[in-house]
Amino acid sequence: MKGLDFNKLAAGVLVAGVIAMVAGFTANGLYQPPHSEERGFRIEVVANEAYADEAEAAAHAEKLDIAALLSAADAEAGKAVAKKCAACHVFEKGGPNRVGPRLWGIVGANKAHTEDFSYSKALKEAGGTWDYEALFAYLENPKKAVPGNKMAFAGIKKPTDLANLVAYLRTLSDNPLPLP
Ligand code: HEC
Repeated sequence: MKGLDFNKLAAGVLVAGVIAMVAGFTANGLYQPPHSEERGFRIEVVANEAYADEAEAAAHAEKLDIAALLSAADAEAGKAVAKKCAACHVFEKGGPNRVGPRLWGIVGANKAHTEDFSYSKALKEAGGTWDYEALFAYLENPKKAVPGNKMAFAGIKKPTDLANLVAYLRTLSDNPLPLP
């Protein structure tokens, strides 16, 4: 190779290197990772409405005050509680059934909500929807709430954990059920 050609080649390599470096810096500057605080879930905290009548108020007072618990609940903390469910359930939209059925959109859905899961007779015949009361009762004590169902899970006893979990489940929907 003649000296002149070699110089041209060396200059070419140098220029290419500088271009690559500048491009790299520019790309780094332009790309910013999503802000971590925006990755969290947000729930709207709405004021509690008065109960429709005394009977309804009494029914709520006997048990946990689900409305108050949910209005103070933290869905992000509930996501951590939901790790207990992940051995058996998938939460993503369109996710598969595992040991238990997929849970996307479960809040407000009919009991035994998916067609392609083989539910126990007890759950199939339970009737009604997974409203907040039904979910609190079931997740607190599955065996007591739906006797004979086959979810082998002891339940979550701490009311704030329960509320955070249900608040998280509520976010797993395109159209979350209004808070009670
Ligand atoms: C050991 C496995 C297991 C664990 C852990 C588990 N589940 Fe389940 N779950 C099941 C099974 C199995 C069923 C179906 C029960 C039946 O058919 O009787 C079920 C059913 C359900 C249902 C009713 C679904 C429907 O379509 O009606 C809900 C809601 C639910 N689980 C929520 C949870 C949550 C929330 C957790 C965590 C706190 C959890 N499960 C932990 C196995 C599990």
